Amino acid sequence: MTMLEILARKKMGQELTREEIAYFVKGAAEHTIPDYQLAALLMAIRLNGMTDRETTELTLAMRDSGDIADLSAIPGIKVDKHSTGGVGDTTTLVLAPLVAACGAPVAKMSGRGLGHTGGTLDKLESIPGLTVSLSVPEFIDQVRRIGVAVVGQTGHLAPADKTLYALRDVTSTVDSLPLIVSSILSKKLAAGSDAIVLDVKTGSGAIMHTLEDSIRLAEAMVRVGTLAGKPVVAVITGMDQPLGTHVGNALEVKEAIDVLSGRTEGDLLTVSMTLGGHMLRLAGLVSDAAEGGRRMWDALNSGAGLQKLKEMIAAQGGNPAVCDDVSLLPQANVIRTVTCGRNGYVRSMDTMALGLAAQEMGAGRMELGDQLDYSVGFVLSVRVGDRTESDTPFCTLYARTEEEADRAEKAIREAVRFSDEPCPRAPVFYAIVTSEGTWRLEDKA
Ligand code: URA
Ligand code: CA
Repeated sequence: MTMLEILARKKMGQELTREEIAYFVKGAAEHTIPDYQLAALLMAIRLNGMTDRETTELTLAMRDSGDIADLSAIPGIKVDKHSTGGVGDTTTLVLAPLVAACGAPVAKMSGRGLGHTGGTLDKLESIPGLTVSLSVPEFIDQVRRIGVAVVGQTGHLAPADKTLYALRDVTSTVDSLPLIVSSILSKKLAAGSDAIVLDVKTGSGAIMHTLEDSIRLAEAMVRVGTLAGKPVVAVITGMDQPLGTHVGNALEVKEAIDVLSGRTEGDLLTVSMTLGGHMLRLAGLVSDAAEGGRRMWDALNSGAGLQKLKEMIAAQGGNPAVCDDVSLLPQANVIRTVTCGRNGYVRSMDTMALGLAAQEMGAGRMELGDQLDYSVGFVLSVRVGDRTESDTPFCTLYARTEEEADRAEKAIREAVRFSDEPCPRAPVFYAIVTSEGTWRLEDKA
């Protein structure tokens, strides 16, 4: 078997064999196949697609390209959660402590920001003193002791994805269904949990912009996960505006604390409760997701979730007092509140542009290895469908300099469009996909 033969077959749209897939995945993990051949193959896959069987073989080969975490020392059913990426998307920080407070172990490996989307690890590191680098024994011990740990990847998981993802990023092959499915699921399967809840975003800030593509992605992930032997449930949620109102690392930690303290309601809370409800069901603690949601509310109202977040922060070396006094989080140099300057209605938002604005302020990396400024970002005061007057608050900017605040304000104003006519609110939930089928939901916004 040679890479040229594999390339020739995929170029013609033929179905690759398990052996062929194993061959190039091994070559990607071990860097024995040159990047130009892998890049050509990725483009052939992007253009010609893969069958379900190929996608499953690819996912399993990528899972097996490195270590598989062994979480068996943690009692109970471990349920992981993964978002396909969004803006102001802080559900992990809200739901992980709540799910743990409800009695389901949360052993979570999270990621860093990517492009316009934020990452849980970067958000957590904005908490003074907190580390996300735990050894495998420390990680397992913490979950056994307090029920929750959110850390960076421990061990050498799915190294083939590292090679392939870096190439996709620079060859315009990120938006390929089989490549997304195998990238996400190989890592989730290697992370060792027993079941997975996926938050598949749809809309202007999501990897898939249309609902039909998002549903196809969710259905493929559920099928492949099921074939790999793990129950997977996918909830399709809206990314036509940031999920929470806060965008930026310390700002999103503050919002998660506000939600867990009962001070803030809204879409971030609603989506976190729903995802958590599904996690509790897959963990076997409740009979359906609605009951799981009610348990989540109990843990919120009793303060048990906030208490669990404090325990987790302390266990990972951070200062838990941030939960009582959010001013202990990093504070920006320049804080500026601006008004809408317009009578009308908020029609739509370019969510990706909003994420890029935060990235450019220093909340995300422009180049590999960039140092983040945890304090920067913005809080949006309007949601799609809101009616505004000229003096209605529009957003508050948290910037390093006046010039950067100017630039961000311009970008955010361009990303939010107004109308003179009333506009519908943006839906929060679109569909639920399980191995039993797909349920489309009415607009519940
Ligand atoms: N996140 C991933 O990890 N991989 C993808 O392909 C897309 C989003
Ligand atoms: Ca730190």
